[in-house]
Amino acid sequence: RSDFTLRGGRPARVLVLGAGVAGLACAYELGKAGYDCVVLEARDRVGGRSMTLRGGDTVTELAGEHTGTARGAGGASPDGSSGPAGTATPAASAAALDRRLVRFGPGTYFNSGPARIAQWMVTLDYCRELGVPLEVFVNSNASAYVLTSGMTAPVRMRTARADAYGYISELLAKATDAGALDARLTPADQALLLDFLSDFGEIGPALTYTGGDRRGYGSDPGIKAGTALGRPPELAEVLSQGLGRMLTMDAGYEQAMPMFQPVGGMDAIVRALAGRVGAARIRTGTRATRITTGPGGVEVEIDGGAPLKADYCVAALPPHVMARIPANLGADVRSALATPVPMSAGKIGLEYGRRWWELEDRVYGGATETDLDIGHIWYPSHDYHTERGLVVGYYNTGPNAEAYDAMPHRERLRRALAYGARVHGARYRRDLLDAVSVAWRRQPHIEGAWVRWPSTSGLSLLQRPAGRVYFAGDWLTHLIAWQAGALESARRVVTDLHHRVLKEG
Ligand code: PHE
Repeated sequence: RSDFTLRGGRPARVLVLGAGVAGLACAYELGKAGYDCVVLEARDRVGGRSMTLRGGDTVTELAGEHTGTARGAGGASPDGSSGPAGTATPAASAAALDRRLVRFGPGTYFNSGPARIAQWMVTLDYCRELGVPLEVFVNSNASAYVLTSGMTAPVRMRTARADAYGYISELLAKATDAGALDARLTPADQALLLDFLSDFGEIGPALTYTGGDRRGYGSDPGIKAGTALGRPPELAEVLSQGLGRMLTMDAGYEQAMPMFQPVGGMDAIVRALAGRVGAARIRTGTRATRITTGPGGVEVEIDGGAPLKADYCVAALPPHVMARIPANLGADVRSALATPVPMSAGKIGLEYGRRWWELEDRVYGGATETDLDIGHIWYPSHDYHTERGLVVGYYNTGPNAEAYDAMPHRERLRRALAYGARVHGARYRRDLLDAVSVAWRRQPHIEGAWVRWPSTSGLSLLQRPAGRVYFAGDWLTHLIAWQAGALESARRVVTDLHHRVLKEG
């Protein structure tokens, strides 16, 4: 993939609304082509959801009644905390803000939004072009754990995988041997299948799974042989663990290893973009209050300042936020903007003074997968063996995240620690220095982790300009909830806009 450049044309003036990845990328690409861009950002920081938190930062949340569109956490909740019932948005229900100072030590950071980049994503092209250094993000670790409600204790990923592969292979091999596949497979193909299964599941000539090295050891091999971890649980118990999804998470096209992260925090990308755009062209703390498109240009009214005029406008805002800004874009555009449903997701960053997961569990990066309402626990993929480290104590979505949206921070922390201790025991509560949680539905001017389109009606309308106003964001692509979606959308919009300028030139 070659770097992206717009060619020819005459400069025009463009107002970009929103300094998230999409808005910054639009201003960056248009700027390269000689356009005169100004970016208006309602928040007091650039980056949007690409928010990396460090000591000294303040996290602000919309306070008041709960958020969410559904009914709270599914599944067991140890303290019976009830889920939200209403459908009010935080903006509608709350004028108040909760603020929390981040007290992380030097070097600690928390990617509270995007955190991993797949090899095929255009995000990596921007890292290369902008000189953002990368390192591996460990998205899957055989030494991390799985824990589901069907299990009494956590098990290492490698152990669970060995047992699943082993028993599935045994079943299929024995069924083949008993003639159950005679109608499907020739004798020659049955022989090939048995060959495959014998390696795939390590089931030996008896076609029986009895465990093995793949499960791991009680104590690791060295001068002495390793001690066995014990025999695998019975097949019925393995089936009851319900691990099908967790064991294949990294088979997903978007989740396969190796994945990458910018060194020092995900916001390195938005900082680099903002740096190229230039601080003088980015106005934070500036909210658009009315957008008027006309035959000769666009006018944007702002909070506390004179209206701004430009030839074009790119609205790189979440659709549910954009839908509330008065604008003469037509009823069909307004209803299309109101179609995508904002979704919840949340994370908590737990800063520890000691990397016990490296020292004691021998887990260097990666994730523990659970079906508890915390979802995933992530271990840091950077700065191994340093003193402090930040564990993501939950990363949840859907109804689980909606339930956490409704909780005050201390309750989110309490649950994160209680569930984390089921995986890691008492050490999970020791050496904890600070904790910061982010509920994306409660982030001012963002109000969602990403969106879901209940139907795609309205999507193609918003992929085209409304008068002189263009829309940009991951929500207009097939890469929702990825920075790559925002970047692909930005490229599309600036290309369309540029072609129009060339034509109308
Ligand atoms: N990009 C986000 C993540 O990797 C959300 C997401 C998850 C999107 C899974 C698609 C699939 O966590």
